[in-house]
Amino acid sequence: MSVPVHPTVSRRRVLRGFGAAGATVLVVGAGAGGYRVVDTAALRPGHGQAYDPWRHWDSTPGPLGAVAAAVLAANPHNTQPWLFEVGATTIDVGVDPGRHLGSVDPYRREQHVGLGCALENLVLGCRARGLEPRLTLLPDGPDAARVARVDLVPAPAQHDPRHDAVGTRHTNRGPYTDEPLDAAALAGLVDPTGLPGVEVVWVVEEGARASLGGLMVDAAQAVVDDETQSRDGFAWFRGDDDAVQEHRDGLTLDAQGLGPLVLGVVKLLPASSRSGGDAFWVKQTRDVHTATATAYGVVVSAEPDDRATQLRAGRLLQRTHLTATTRGIGLQHMNQVTERIDAERVAGRAPTFGPRLAALLPPGARPLVAFRVGWPERAARPSPRRPVGAVART
Ligand SMILES: Cc1cc2nc3c(=O)[nH]c(=O)nc-3n(C[C@H](O)[C@H](O)[C@H](O)COP(=O)(O)O)c2cc1C
Repeated sequence: MSVPVHPTVSRRRVLRGFGAAGATVLVVGAGAGGYRVVDTAALRPGHGQAYDPWRHWDSTPGPLGAVAAAVLAANPHNTQPWLFEVGATTIDVGVDPGRHLGSVDPYRREQHVGLGCALENLVLGCRARGLEPRLTLLPDGPDAARVARVDLVPAPAQHDPRHDAVGTRHTNRGPYTDEPLDAAALAGLVDPTGLPGVEVVWVVEEGARASLGGLMVDAAQAVVDDETQSRDGFAWFRGDDDAVQEHRDGLTLDAQGLGPLVLGVVKLLPASSRSGGDAFWVKQTRDVHTATATAYGVVVSAEPDDRATQLRAGRLLQRTHLTATTRGIGLQHMNQVTERIDAERVAGRAPTFGPRLAALLPPGARPLVAFRVGWPERAARPSPRRPVGAVART
């Protein structure tokens, strides 16, 4: 995943900024004769309608409230690849086929893992609202658009701290402290109940952690050196507040884990290109993400290409992230290595990233997705979301 740091300044954008009725604007010298106009509200992370779903999810009752929880799930590049059909006693969950990462996710594994993340929030959302969900994965087979059917049966409402964490869980891309997480704390993050065939392998020991960190940096560099992957990732970057509020999806500057001062400056600065953003991401991967990772988790299975396995992997990933959130532990998804494994497979090239990752995993454990954990130095900020009304039909 790569993001540019400085959105491009254009005369058209400047003029459009002046046209924003009633907005408070700053006109900032951008060097080389350019100007950037900034609606001051845009400097406040989490403002505006793009973030409303984080504010209202818990107050919505019934099946639609469960969907309001589902749309807050982690998902690749914030593509939000889901559609819901909500009846009185059923919720159907489908894939929105146009919302995908192209060459970054050629086998659509990440897309289905993201749908699994949404299923986990949906299940928690149902139980908290007095609806026991009976989940059937892939009721129409592995290639159908409908990925799950949920039959709802009235039941006493259940309180689960992981449900409470739905609205505060965010991907944390900032630095983590050097305070350790012991084996028991890591094991306590993972609850595979009801999710056969998937598990989390922890990479903690210093040498293995350094090897995986190096592999992540090499993979990030390989992603940005691959123009197709770089472009397909960049298509989901929302470089200014107009784009965030319009699309309500994608990757943002606010979510990059920067400190408040640096973030403010970066939002005011002019112009950077896709390549500038790529360089920023590789640098963050080397100097922050891998340099401060306390441990890595890899969700593995014997059958990573199986669609049901991918959905279950997403549920386990989201459950782990929610549990981490209840304990104040930060988590960042990091999937450049598996993205390069896929790219080498698509191109029919001799695998290089696959064997390096396999050497760090138990025999037969094949990777689906990876992440890092640690005690965060600062809180993560929310990412935009499309509202329930845009993704659910009743
Ligand atoms: C399958 C999957 C793959 C992801 N890959 C990455 C990644 O490689 N790097 C990263 O920083 N975030 C990654 N993410 C995190 C998403 O970008 C994030 O969930 C999304 O932008 C929404 O933000 P939120 O999790 O803070 O709500 C991934 C998430 C999922 C579910």
